[in-house]
Amino acid sequence: MEHSKEQIDLIREVFHYSHLFNDAVFVIKIDYRIIDHPLFPSLVKDLALLHQMGIKMVIIPGAKARIEEVLDRYGIETRTAEGVRISTEESIPFIKMAAFDVSNRIMTMLAGQKVHAVIGNWVRARSMGVIKGLDYQQTGIVEKIDVALVKKILAEGLIPVFPCIGWNSLGKPYNINSNELATVASISLKAQKLFFVTPYPGLTESAYKIPPGAYLAPDGRISRLSVEAALEFSRLNADSSDPLLEYIDFGCRAASRQVDRVHIIDGTIDGVILKEIFSNLGMGMMIHGNIYDSIRSMEPRDVSDVLRLMEPLVEKEILVRRTEDQLNASYENYVVYEVDDSIHGCGALVEFSGDTAEIAGIAVDQSYKHLGIGQKIVEYLIGEARKRGLGRVFVLTTQTADWFQQLGFVPGDISDLPEDRRRIYDTKRKSKIFKFLL
Ligand SMILES: CC(C)(COP(=O)(O)OP(=O)(O)OC[C@H]1O[C@@H](n2cnc3c(N)ncnc32)[C@H](O)[C@@H]1OP(=O)(O)O)[C@@H](O)C(=O)NCCC(=O)NCCS
Repeated sequence: MEHSKEQIDLIREVFHYSHLFNDAVFVIKIDYRIIDHPLFPSLVKDLALLHQMGIKMVIIPGAKARIEEVLDRYGIETRTAEGVRISTEESIPFIKMAAFDVSNRIMTMLAGQKVHAVIGNWVRARSMGVIKGLDYQQTGIVEKIDVALVKKILAEGLIPVFPCIGWNSLGKPYNINSNELATVASISLKAQKLFFVTPYPGLTESAYKIPPGAYLAPDGRISRLSVEAALEFSRLNADSSDPLLEYIDFGCRAASRQVDRVHIIDGTIDGVILKEIFSNLGMGMMIHGNIYDSIRSMEPRDVSDVLRLMEPLVEKEILVRRTEDQLNASYENYVVYEVDDSIHGCGALVEFSGDTAEIAGIAVDQSYKHLGIGQKIVEYLIGEARKRGLGRVFVLTTQTADWFQQLGFVPGDISDLPEDRRRIYDTKRKSKIFKFLL
């Protein structure tokens, strides 16, 4: 039963998301080391599936390691400064060769999945110039992307593949950072998602200083950061040499400029991109703007979702059963926690006499437990009670006493309930009473 419920939930989630991504643009940056990984063909297959579903996608292969291989093979020496290779006039033909070679490999593998892709010169670049007296020569930065042309290609049902090369207005080539290219492409194309497919496992709590507001998965993985929390994370861990920090910096840049979500994922895990897209718990780390966390007032259209959310908890007698009619009559007391247009939590603030209110009906989707959602809902309702100038809130609970105490509630008794609530107190249920002074 439990297994089949999970499957049904998964199918629902997939349908929900496939509807959300109609016409969406995803920018996918793939690290070169992933392209050589034995599971890469399976990632390409997943990308082909997404493409066939109608998701428009742009692929940006990283070529750093391939460029190094080619330069090595031909005995071309270059130097790096501040982690950036200085691309000399002598090295640039070899760098181009390596960048196009990697793009070609991706195009060939997509052809094997019957997906058409094109490699092109849609990126205008200029030299990084002279920094601290050092001439970066043909190492460039992205100036702009020919968005109209790329959109035309996407509308034709093709996948544009961007080598990490850009050209100036006279056709001079520059080697550009593919993470920067992916970031600028996602912003220019107003992409819904930017993926960094990396060869690294995610960031874990134990190895870093964690800013407030970070979401941790039960395995200790940092699963979500708002832009603000991600910036704070970078600041707190600035002395770390973890290569994932570069992705976080670029991710912040994209997510603060209207790219809805940036996902940093471990491309060596089979199916990682599907799991990351079709379940908002994901498998990697996500950076998002402020829209992700949204608690909003409940509306009548939410009633069926809230009933479904409560049902397993009612069955376990944790929550009191509410009927559809009751919820329709009292929906204004409720707030819902919504992620990607689907509801994963709810709670109510019901006012009583004597400047008091009951916090009731707190429920969190059981697949989304331990993410801090319950706490957020309670804090939101407490804030709401303060705004209304109330003096005290209380809860009645049979199985969640410890949790409310962790949130600062203190034990009370029936004399703490206002008269109009005491009258309807269900003596058979024997709920414990906790109060919180505002
Ligand atoms: C209780 C509930 C709201 C918590 O939601 P949540 O989003 O998982 O909560 P948070 O992530 O903010 O907090 C989780 C912490 O609370 C603790 N916790 C969760 N349920 C608990 C319970 N019943 N008793 C004591 N502590 C509990 C966990 O240990 C967890 O700590 P951890 O993450 O360090 O392991 C949720 O589990 C739920 O819907 N429960 C059933 C409904 C219910 O009890 N409602 C309250 C009666 S009105």
